[in-house]
Amino acid sequence: MESLQGKVAVITGATGGLGMALARQCAARGMRLVLADLDAGALERAVAQFGGPERCAGRPTDVTRAEEVEALARFTGERFGAPFLVFNNAGVGVSKTIAETTVNDWRWVLGVNLWGVLHGIAAFLPRMQAGGGRIVNTASAAGFLSEPCMGAYSVSKHAVVVLSETLRRELELERSRVGVTVLCPAFFPTGINQSERNRPAELASPPAASALAQAAKAQLEKAVNHGRLGADDVAARTLEAVEGERFYVFTHPKIRLAIEERMRPILAAFPSR
Ligand SMILES: NC(=O)c1ccc[n+]([C@@H]2O[C@H](COP(=O)([O-])OP(=O)(O)OC[C@H]3O[C@@H](n4cnc5c(N)ncnc54)[C@H](O)[C@@H]3O)[C@@H](O)[C@H]2O)c1
Repeated sequence: MESLQGKVAVITGATGGLGMALARQCAARGMRLVLADLDAGALERAVAQFGGPERCAGRPTDVTRAEEVEALARFTGERFGAPFLVFNNAGVGVSKTIAETTVNDWRWVLGVNLWGVLHGIAAFLPRMQAGGGRIVNTASAAGFLSEPCMGAYSVSKHAVVVLSETLRRELELERSRVGVTVLCPAFFPTGINQSERNRPAELASPPAASALAQAAKAQLEKAVNHGRLGADDVAARTLEAVEGERFYVFTHPKIRLAIEERMRPILAAFPSR
């Protein structure tokens, strides 16, 4: 890939754990940054860390709203020109059984994790086609698994994986100058366990009540907080993959076995002829 120096990166969910780490990786390569997230104050503080208005701009954006992501794309173009990297990274998690997951849970999780990525592609892809670059979608190892009490999250991340795979194939067939990378990490410490802080009041939902979900939530919190890799490790591997024009980014070797275990009964269920 050509040098990233001086090029423009847009990051959604930019003031969160992984978003900030991705911003650090891009800044270290001399990129100019557009940071998008919900909270204007957190964005201001983040912009100050990355050298101020010449190098970095912040734009409050709710990725669930198409018009706000479109406005982010216009803002980016006016401020710095067409982006070369777009990280559709904003995400939230809910830990409930499918039976407990309410319509509001589905709307919120799919709204951020899936529609946020769809809005990002719709707004940025047409603006990137001429100059080329890469769309980097944050999925998760959950995008290949079906763990109990992670239903809404996993459904959203499976969708992001398939969306990314399809987009990649289409762009290749069209010989587009835009590539795709899909990021599939397992647990690492960030604010993801406190996702509820960002839930809009109109999508309120009661907390999980089942013993199964409460146990899963406790386990999930432990897994995230004690993740061996940090957000900076995950972001560094992501940028290496981007520079190497690689599609899948897996960061946690143990997940390979879990994916194999999921695939085994699927493949075994095929008739032999
Ligand atoms: N931390 C992990 O263990 C882990 C593992 C796999 C994948 N991921 C994914 O990484 C991505 C980043 O999450 P993180 O772990 O840094 O968590 P985080 O909570 O630290 O950051 C998420 C960011 O997204 C923002 N956000 C939430 N809703 C938004 C909306 N509607 N519009 C714009 N921004 C919004 C939040 O304000 C926050 O800054 C997510 O897509 C998450 O699913 C995380």
